Amino acid sequence: MAEIIVVTSGKGGVGKTTTSASLACGLARHGHKVAVIDFDVGLRNLDLIMGCERRVVYDFVNVVNGEASLKQALIKDKRFDNLYVLAASQTRDKDALTREGVQKVLDELAADGFDYVICDSPAGIEKGAYLAMYFADQAVVVVNPEVSSVRDSDRILGLLASKTRKAEQGERVKEHLLLTRYSPKRVETGEMLSVGDVEEILGLKTIGVIPESPDVLNASNKGEPVILEVGSDAAQAYDDAVARLLGQNRPMRFVTPEKKGFFSKIFGG
Ligand SMILES: Nc1ncnc2c1ncn2[C@@H]1O[C@H](COP(=O)(O)OP(=O)(O)OP(=O)(O)O)[C@@H](O)[C@H]1O
Ligand SMILES: [Mg+2]
Repeated sequence: MAEIIVVTSGKGGVGKTTTSASLACGLARHGHKVAVIDFDVGLRNLDLIMGCERRVVYDFVNVVNGEASLKQALIKDKRFDNLYVLAASQTRDKDALTREGVQKVLDELAADGFDYVICDSPAGIEKGAYLAMYFADQAVVVVNPEVSSVRDSDRILGLLASKTRKAEQGERVKEHLLLTRYSPKRVETGEMLSVGDVEEILGLKTIGVIPESPDVLNASNKGEPVILEVGSDAAQAYDDAVARLLGQNRPMRFVTPEKKGFFSKIFGG
């Protein structure tokens, strides 16, 4: 059985695609067979972050419409043999994806022995986001530590609890909080909400806290998921999140401001 994980948020631009790419890569690095799917019809982005945009011939909508087979459309990652990308269509037709079409693709991935399918949701709470979450077993809710992001995530939690296949069957999608663009310094000064604040408002358990980091943009410019950036805080934080998804215990890092050294304490810095 393939475990279907939606990466969702409500609010746009919070880090869903960044997170989808890194979680997919991290799970593949643990030896699992993984597919990561871009549900953002009209706005292709995941293939850029994964560094395979030049190899996209067929996309998700082509498969749904029967214009290509799933095998033709899946792009094998250059770094991991067991990691595949299904790109979004550039079509302007927002209704190109249907629930039946999505189900067909997910069923075929499960039959092909995929362990995990990561669904990168578009922003908002409309059809695309609904289709991305409908078949999910688990949801990673990506939140920035600010009020507007938390509020939009709360609306997504409402949909996860009512508009999914699990909800229709009287079950629950397993929900995780992933806080990203976290700056412990700005939390300390009261400009940002803390991990504890967000957990309390949303009633979720945290699977990861990703620090604000310039490495994210550098990595995406190179077409490399940031989890592969050696020595990067963001990479280590994503690696911890993947381990927790796999049921391991990892202490939370990057949640307190860096301690200043002796000299900078005395001389300022
Ligand atoms: N931890 C981080 N530190 C710094 N910048 C980040 C971090 N995470 C994401 N970003 C930046 O935030 C922007 C949005 O990221 P991303 O595209 O992953 O968001 P998204 O939620 O998928 O957006 P959309 O809703 O448009 O699909 C990008 O410019 C990315 O580089
Ligand atoms: Mg995105």
